[in-house]
This record gives sequence, structure tokens and C-alpha cells, in this order.
Amino acid sequence: MSDPGSNSYYKRHIFFCLNERANGEACCAQHNAQQAFERCKAQVKAQGLAGPGQVRVNKSGCLDRCAAGPVAVVYPEAVWYSYVDEHDIDEIVESHLKNGRVVERLLTPPHLGR
Ligand code: FES
Repeated sequence: MSDPGSNSYYKRHIFFCLNERANGEACCAQHNAQQAFERCKAQVKAQGLAGPGQVRVNKSGCLDRCAAGPVAVVYPEAVWYSYVDEHDIDEIVESHLKNGRVVERLLTPPHLGR
């Protein structure tokens, strides 16, 4: 069977949950998810990684792993990250999005869901 990622339009695609809940329940928007998303987009662009055959950065609604938030997920590897600050975002860009090396220290604990 061929590599399912081999004919992907993007080499890697990262989605940031930007969901905000008005009722005070935990949500990624409470943890500066918007800034992290913008930082990631800017870094990917600045490093010349953006575009077809390369990297795409998108916002998403709730990914249903709010307890681990703020979260982002990278495909095709389906690797989930729980990040804290811009330093973490820069590391994800440099290590994973650019060089394909998973950032182990930021991995979302597998049992954490909603
Ligand atoms: S609010 Fe971000 S995963 Fe649910």
C-alpha cells in the first residue's frame, strides 16, 4: 500500500482550536490560542514553509479535547500538542513542521479528552 501522505496537497497541516465558550467552561480561547495561531502562521510564513506541498496553518472549532487545552493537531501524523507559550509554538514549527521531528515534551497526554 502506498504512503497515504504521499499525494497530500500539504505536506503538514496544523489545526489550532480557537473555540471560545461564553459560559465560563474550559476552552482553548482562554489560553491565548488566538495568539499562538497567529504566531505559528507568522513563523511558517517567515521561514518560507507556507504553501502547497509544504505547510498549512488553520484555525478550528472545538476539537473535543478541551481538558488538554490549548491544543493543536498536526496531520498527516495526527500528533496532538498541548502548548503553553510562543516558545512552544516556535519549537513545533522548527522541529515538527519544518523537520518532521515530533516535540515529545509538548505531546498531549493520550487519555485527556473533554
Ligand atoms: S475548546 Fe479547544 S478542544 Fe475544546
